[in-house]
Order: sequence, then structure tokens, then C-alpha cells
Amino acid sequence: MGYMKHMMGALLSAGVLAGIGVAPAVATEFRLGTIVPSGHVWNEAARAMDSALQEASGGAHSVSVFPAGQLGSEEQMVQQLQTGALDMAFLTIADVSNRIPDFGALYAPFLVDNAGDAGKLLQGETATALLDQLPQKMGVVGIGYGIATMRQIMSVRPVDTIADLEGAKTRITPFKPFRDFYSILGIAPTPMPLPDVYDALANGQVDAMDIDPELIVNFKFYDRAEHLLLTNHAMFPMVGLVSGRVWAGLSDEDKALLDTTMSNALADLMVFYAEAEPDFIAQIRETGIEVRDVDRDFFPNVVEQWEDVWSEQKPVIDALRAEAENL
Ligand code: BEZ
Repeated sequence: MGYMKHMMGALLSAGVLAGIGVAPAVATEFRLGTIVPSGHVWNEAARAMDSALQEASGGAHSVSVFPAGQLGSEEQMVQQLQTGALDMAFLTIADVSNRIPDFGALYAPFLVDNAGDAGKLLQGETATALLDQLPQKMGVVGIGYGIATMRQIMSVRPVDTIADLEGAKTRITPFKPFRDFYSILGIAPTPMPLPDVYDALANGQVDAMDIDPELIVNFKFYDRAEHLLLTNHAMFPMVGLVSGRVWAGLSDEDKALLDTTMSNALADLMVFYAEAEPDFIAQIRETGIEVRDVDRDFFPNVVEQWEDVWSEQKPVIDALRAEAENL
């Protein structure tokens, strides 16, 4: 949002124009950033929000989507949200959990088995309450969660036991919950944001990766790594954020419009992934690469050890596990 529009919104919400009897419509083109490639479903959800917002605002407001890290890394986008240089973002919880460790609880190993249950858990009481920390601690407003498909492990070499991954350069999303998971297993993780993964695999910079089925299909990772462990070891939430500064400058009416249109887009995303996850996995099986189903016994004691490392978040983790049992 430009400075003038931002200030106009601030004036309106401060009631400076109240009493004039007219509520001038402040047309705004909101900018929304993501790190996922253009065709990724998160960007489609953002474009769906754009259509809904345009319709609901009579064409006054719109959302321009900047995918694939065009506006920078997630860390840089968070900084832009904090200053108001960026209006909105659909982000992984990697950077958020580096700043607010309670969010790391969402990555506790083996919380849920599939994207459908992940969506339900993220719409539950414990996950929703975490969003309340965002304005104060990060200067952003959390409208709600989205998800991606569940996390899996893909390798260029066969993996019979987890010991076979020892010494393998294993790509992870750069954040502590996944780093801890792999360190506990004795695997030195290689932190790498998504936009860098394709080249790293092609160049032999990594031998294995923590990844999800949608990305395996979209990037055709099966052409380069022919062994997939279907582990479902963690869910992968996304969060829909609005800049706190931008939010403070909006009228109540516009806040409600953004809240509703973004919440609906995120809810539709949950429904989509619950249905699409098995299809992505079927597409991978059809390629003929080795796909091996394993369960948590493949990772002896990892849950207990991970929870020891995350003992400060134990109340949140316990609350999530209790909710997950009753989904
Ligand atoms: C990843 O880091 O693997 C990732 C990032 C965004 C969406 C899905 C996965």
C-alpha cells in the first residue's frame, strides 16, 4: 500500500473524518508475498482471495500476488510486513517459529497422519490461540492457517534403516524444529529454503531431502531421487498474515473484508489438500520409483527426544496431542 493510501486509512480509522457523513472508499491494491512457485496451490488460494475481495468490495480492493520469493526470503517478507512495506503474506511457520518458539510445537513429530487431520488440528483451540501472540511479538496479524501436504523423506540412495541416512546431506526447511528432528537421528541437516532446492538436488549438493508430495510432483524430484520414504513425520502449516501497521490503518469494514476473504481462501485450501494429498502420492507411485511406507517405529525414540528438546513448549505440545487424539 502506498504511503498516501496508508495514511488515508489511518485517518479514517482514527475517526478524523467522522462526522463528515461520507465514508470515502479508499481503493487499495494489497500486495501478498509467498516463497512457493507460481503454480503452487498457496498462490492459487491467494488469487482466489483476490477475486473474492474484488467482488465483495465492488472492485475497490484487490490483491496482487508475488510468488516464488520475488519479494525476498520469508525472513525479509516478515520484516517488510513489520514496516508496512508489504501488506500480506502466506508463509510457512519456519520464520515465525524461529521468532516465537511456541509455534514450533506445531511441528512435533507424528502429531497427525495426514493433511486432512492437520487441517482440523490447525482449526482447533490450541493452534488458533497461538495466533494471538503474533501482533504483540511480531507486529503482524494472523488471520488463520493453511497447510501443505505432510512431510516425507526422499533420497538418491536406498534407505533400509534410518542409519543409512547417516552422513547424507539432507535438505531441510531452515528452522529449528526440523533441525532438531534430524540432529536427534544423527543426520546432519542442510538448511535450505524451497526456492534453492531444485538446483541443489540437480548439482548433487544434497543427497536427501525433507519434502512434501505436492513439491515432489511439481518439481519432478522423482527424476533425480528415486527412493521415497512415506513417513508423514510432521504436518506443515502455513499462516496467512497481514501487516500490523497496515491493519491498524484499515476501517473496521475493510478489516472484516480482509478477514473474511482470507479466512475463506485458507479454509478452501484445507479442503483441497485433504482431498488432493492421496492423488499426489498416487502420481508419485505411478512414476515407478521406490515408495516405502514407514511408521514412527522407523525413528526409534525420536518423539520422546524431540519433546525433551522442546520441553518449554510441552504444555502446547500436550494440548495439541490431546486434540489430535479426538479428531
Ligand atoms: C519447504 O520448505 O519444503 C516448503 C516451503 C513452502 C511450502 C511447502 C514446502
